[in-house]
Amino acid sequence: MATIKAPVDPTSCAAWKALEDHKAALDEKGISLKDWFAADPDRVSKLSFDVADLHFDLSKNLVTDETIPLLVQLAREVGLEERRDAMFAGEHINTTEDRAVLHTALRRQKNEAGTLIVDGQDCIADVHEVLDRMYDFAERVRSGEWRGVTGHSIKNVVSIGIGGSDLGPVMVYESLKPFIDGPSVRFVSNIDPNDMAEKLRGLDPETTLVIVVSKTFTTLETITNAREARTWLLDTLREQGAINNTPEAAADAVAHHFVAVSTALDLVADFGIDPNNAFGFWSWVGGRYSVDSAVGLSLILAFGREKFENFLAGFRAIDEHFLNTPLEQNIPVLMGLMNVWYVNFFNAESHAVLPYCQYLHRFPAYLQQLTMESNGKGTRWDGTPVTTKTGEVFWGEAGTNGQHAFYQLIHQGTRLIPADFIAFVNTPNPTKDGDQDVHEVFLANFLAQTKALAFGKTADEVRAEGTAEWMVPARVFTGNRPTTSIFGKALTPFAMGALIALYEHITFVEGTVWGVNSFDQWGVELGKQLAKQITPAFDDDDAMAKQDASTQALLAFYRANRV
Ligand code: F6P
Repeated sequence: MATIKAPVDPTSCAAWKALEDHKAALDEKGISLKDWFAADPDRVSKLSFDVADLHFDLSKNLVTDETIPLLVQLAREVGLEERRDAMFAGEHINTTEDRAVLHTALRRQKNEAGTLIVDGQDCIADVHEVLDRMYDFAERVRSGEWRGVTGHSIKNVVSIGIGGSDLGPVMVYESLKPFIDGPSVRFVSNIDPNDMAEKLRGLDPETTLVIVVSKTFTTLETITNAREARTWLLDTLREQGAINNTPEAAADAVAHHFVAVSTALDLVADFGIDPNNAFGFWSWVGGRYSVDSAVGLSLILAFGREKFENFLAGFRAIDEHFLNTPLEQNIPVLMGLMNVWYVNFFNAESHAVLPYCQYLHRFPAYLQQLTMESNGKGTRWDGTPVTTKTGEVFWGEAGTNGQHAFYQLIHQGTRLIPADFIAFVNTPNPTKDGDQDVHEVFLANFLAQTKALAFGKTADEVRAEGTAEWMVPARVFTGNRPTTSIFGKALTPFAMGALIALYEHITFVEGTVWGVNSFDQWGVELGKQLAKQITPAFDDDDAMAKQDASTQALLAFYRANRV
């Protein structure tokens, strides 16, 4: 904490007061995107930006020419630029863990080695030392040079991890499926044995590689699942007569079929994984910010080096934009500030992310950890309470599925739900239905939804359709429901990296305004501790007696019904 300045209370800023007045004035005059578009023919061009192969249209947000300068002023008053620069420079902005926050170093180029020395470590040189080992290992597996214990090449990978050690890799793997040209990967995260059972089904251990991914290498789910996978591997190999029953044979099999990704390489060795087959990262990479570290090993196995390098280049393009672009044209800054605008001045409780691309179907789940584990906090980075609402709920679903499920609430419900729509011009699977391009039908939905949300449908328009008067209100769409459209050329590795970095920095911007440390996660600890205390209570009466009345009753139900 010594060198990190206390957060500025955003509500004490002149810009905050000005934003409150501005919001009151908008409410009084009436918020009308329809009128604002009509009054300003330049609105779309003023609020459109092209960054890192992505086109951003912010024009359907509830902002006027006055709003953005005030939001930017707020960012300046809370010291956003200073804190951003401190993050990129490796200052210990993660105060509660006294750590630097340097996920941005993971995508810096090799020739920059020596330019980021933090706590005595040449971060960029170390990043590339691990990357080179990963590329080399992945090439050996992909080419068939790396053999399992019985001499077979690897066809399947099982990646075991949870939270940041799972959500990023699985999301990117799903998103970039058309680019896979290596072994297929299955991801196991839940400690529910059903997850492992289903993922191992049909696999032959002789052609399977297991990657255990855990920053701490202590996470209950991951270590339990890793032991389970090891048991499956050894038992099945023995049953198949592929190895004998000696400890040496077991160690040899594990060495050929298990690799690890962790910051705790000593614990990896204790587990029995050869340190030569372990890929490290560092305490300055938060779990939810780690998909571009060694945590992405499964992706290099699936896609190969070149695509992973393009993926990193996408992150870098957004990092450079975030670092070097004036706040007024800085996309993560503008999107983060608009989120603050909605949370703190419109009382928005949630934010939808709606990808019009089936390959991005896990993106909302990935963003839930990134945003909510980062900004779901009630305490600021100096230990004082927050002064505003923080951390909105992020959620979403790939379009058009969401349209047939929850869009009703976004269009006509009583809550304001800002939404990001994400789509791509080109699809890897162009299809015609007769003469009709099906992707264009899909994109028409993307365009139609944001249009309906912004401009709505008036009572007169409904009446003109011959609707009975009593039913008119039910068919009116108020409009003025804010959306941002992100339109990419294609979902490439580069675009994927750019999208992830975009949301990382949006999260940072929001956290900075609220004064929270977006890089710790103490809120997940209590449940973990209690689970450890409760585990013996399934059988042990003394342990059960120590539980609260409700937990005891639930355990009693379990005991009575266990078969
Ligand atoms: O419990 C939350 C958490 O600590 C996340 O922040 C992290 O991504 C996840 O658990 C997994 O942790 P690890 O990579 O250490 O196994």
